[in-house]
Amino acid sequence: MVAYIAICPHEQGNIEWDEEINKFLCECHLSLFNVGDGSVYAHSSLFELNEGLTKIDLKVDEKGDIYAL
Ligand code: FES
Repeated sequence: MVAYIAICPHEQGNIEWDEEINKFLCECHLSLFNVGDGSVYAHSSLFELNEGLTKIDLKVDEKGDIYAL
């Protein structure tokens, strides 16, 4: 299980899940991020984007409740 902060590392756009392409999408400048590790999948050639999404550490307790650490 993995979670990310839904803020784009480019210019802090909102990150949304795109089910059709199975990627996280920032519609501000159409950058795409991989679901497995949050890394950059694609972005415009007009800017540099080497930093992926920021991961949130999770803990699952014995009841199955999930906590962000
Ligand atoms: S703010 Fe997300 S791609 Fe530019």
